[in-house]
Amino acid sequence: MPQYVRPTVRELIRDGRDRLLRAGVETATLDTELLLAHARREARSQLLANLGEYVLRETAEDFESLLLRRLAREPVSYIVGRREFWGRPFLVDPSVLVPRPETELLVERALKIAPPGGIVADIGTGSGCIAISVALDRPDLVVYATDRSPEALAVARLNAAELGAEGRIRFLEGSLLDPLPERADVIIANLPYVPTQELAELELEVSSWEPRPALDGGPDGLDLVRQLITQLPSHVKQPAACLLEIDPRQYEAVTEIVRTVLRGWSVKPLQDLSGRTRVADLSFFTGSLYR
Ligand SMILES: C[S@@+](CC[C@H](N)C(=O)[O-])C[C@H]1O[C@@H](n2cnc3c(N)ncnc32)[C@H](O)[C@@H]1O
Repeated sequence: MPQYVRPTVRELIRDGRDRLLRAGVETATLDTELLLAHARREARSQLLANLGEYVLRETAEDFESLLLRRLAREPVSYIVGRREFWGRPFLVDPSVLVPRPETELLVERALKIAPPGGIVADIGTGSGCIAISVALDRPDLVVYATDRSPEALAVARLNAAELGAEGRIRFLEGSLLDPLPERADVIIANLPYVPTQELAELELEVSSWEPRPALDGGPDGLDLVRQLITQLPSHVKQPAACLLEIDPRQYEAVTEIVRTVLRGWSVKPLQDLSGRTRVADLSFFTGSLYR
């Protein structure tokens, strides 16, 4: 017979939430529910339908160890090992950035502008969230994904296998556009863009847990973006597009880099749902056939 101990699901949630709140975690209620649901191996919606149930002793112990990790400010996504992106669950661990909702803007735009049968490259693929989402939603495309981190590429390959994109994406280790074996129609990149001196100001979940090479963009945050823009002419077709995720404060600087470095390219801003510019949308020959 399984052993039952008090408290109930409801009581464990209340206790966990209070402890996280005291530690300064703003998303305390949601996080507690996700961790207890993970410990009980059920969806959060099921957990919330079972608030009055007593919890198995071993489940309560598992929950306590998950909560202690969260109290040390480890992101929930690393603790449960997954994060939802573009409607699919991606495996994540501390070798990859946790995919962010704003990055879905890159996927949405790439799906719209990639020409039929075109070549798309996701630069700095991390968990593979962008490349895999694009490959699964547009089976006609050839998709490359690069990263300088072999550990990140291993996670991306696992995600591709788990989500049914195995064989659809060529994963390449190397810096920026260097590993691409052919010219692309669309380059997509969510490169590190946090200015080095701002890294310490980020919330603890990011600064202490997420990989620094996924965040640090150099003195103005644009070291890698600048390098990639410089490499574009030798790695894209005509016409072509390049979608860069940026901090809203960097848009003017990016347009200036494009004006200085590239000929024949234009830039426009893409906003997220709250109206903040999150993507610089670069195009080579405006008025091309597929825009
Ligand atoms: C901000 S993370 C983005 C990860 C993923 N694309 C996403 O949107 O969640 C940046 C990624 O770029 C990789 N990276 C950093 N410098 C790089 C370089 N020079 N060439 C290729 N990838 C690089 C990091 O390893 C990291 O995986």
